Amino acid sequence: MNPHLETLLAQTERVMRDGAFTREAYRGAVRVGVDLGTAYTVLLVLDENNQPLAGDYRFANVVRDGLVVDFIGAIDLLREMKRGIEARLGFELTHAATAYPPGVPRVEVRATANVVRAAGFECTAEIDEPTAANAALQIRDGAVVDVGGGTTGIAIFRDGQVIYSADEATGGTHFTLVIAGALNIAFEDAEKIKTDPREHTRLYPLVRPVMEKVGAIVARHTRGFTVEKIFLVGGTANFTGIAEVVAEITGIPTQIPGQPLFVTPLGIAMNDPVHPNGTDERV
Ligand SMILES: Nc1ncnc2c1ncn2[C@@H]1O[C@H](COP(=O)(O)OP(=O)(O)OP(=O)(O)O)[C@@H](O)[C@H]1O
Ligand SMILES: [Mg+2]
Repeated sequence: MNPHLETLLAQTERVMRDGAFTREAYRGAVRVGVDLGTAYTVLLVLDENNQPLAGDYRFANVVRDGLVVDFIGAIDLLREMKRGIEARLGFELTHAATAYPPGVPRVEVRATANVVRAAGFECTAEIDEPTAANAALQIRDGAVVDVGGGTTGIAIFRDGQVIYSADEATGGTHFTLVIAGALNIAFEDAEKIKTDPREHTRLYPLVRPVMEKVGAIVARHTRGFTVEKIFLVGGTANFTGIAEVVAEITGIPTQIPGQPLFVTPLGIAMNDPVHPNGTDERV
């Protein structure tokens, strides 16, 4: 387990909230990660020591269940995010790493990389999401479960390597749909209250069956393997009580890092080979 994980995630959250880390103009080399998700598109810039420097994330319907469905929308959004971060940093971002859910067809991986290229980056790495997440987590044994907006991804690690992975279409969007249906409100309104932790106690009985479904998916995919611990990441891991439900159904102790939403984006950026920034004299 990465001893610096919590510090890194807290710092990532801070740059995401404030736009950029306020310190004297950084001119060293950077690593850049792009995560095109069903719910959020995330852009994160790290310095050469893997410290978060700047970032942005936006709710967007450009990807569905890990597959790019709106190319133009995805490219426009990423370009806009890139420009905003470049303006704050004072130099151009030229490279980025990206990731794809386990098990997606090769052509879809290419589609994700093409969005990154069309937005103006050289795409330096395309990795699967659990491997990316584990660059941040650094676990040797156990399961990484990424409950995002559209899907639940499962990867089982043995001696630091993925030995099994799967991705199934249940995620935060389903939580939102259940809430919208039960309260008879629009999806956007349901999304708003769902992401407010103060509402979680009231919403828990409504979404508990979806949490159980996530637990059942994890149980099915971990059966037959020795898994002593589950690390729950992805935005939906923010829903209060989900770790307990997954632990109950799988019978495996389940842990959630602080800021689980940023684990995969952080790991993606860590996979971008460090390279000089656009205005560096050394270029
Ligand atoms: N505080 C919160 N409480 C509950 N859910 C949350 C919270 N914050 C974010 N989410 C949910 O997390 C989901 C987004 O998570 P994430 O960014 O990991 O997914 P994604 O990468 O966009 O999707 P996918 O990986 O499935 O393609 C959304 O459904 C969002 O509503
Ligand atoms: Mg995701």
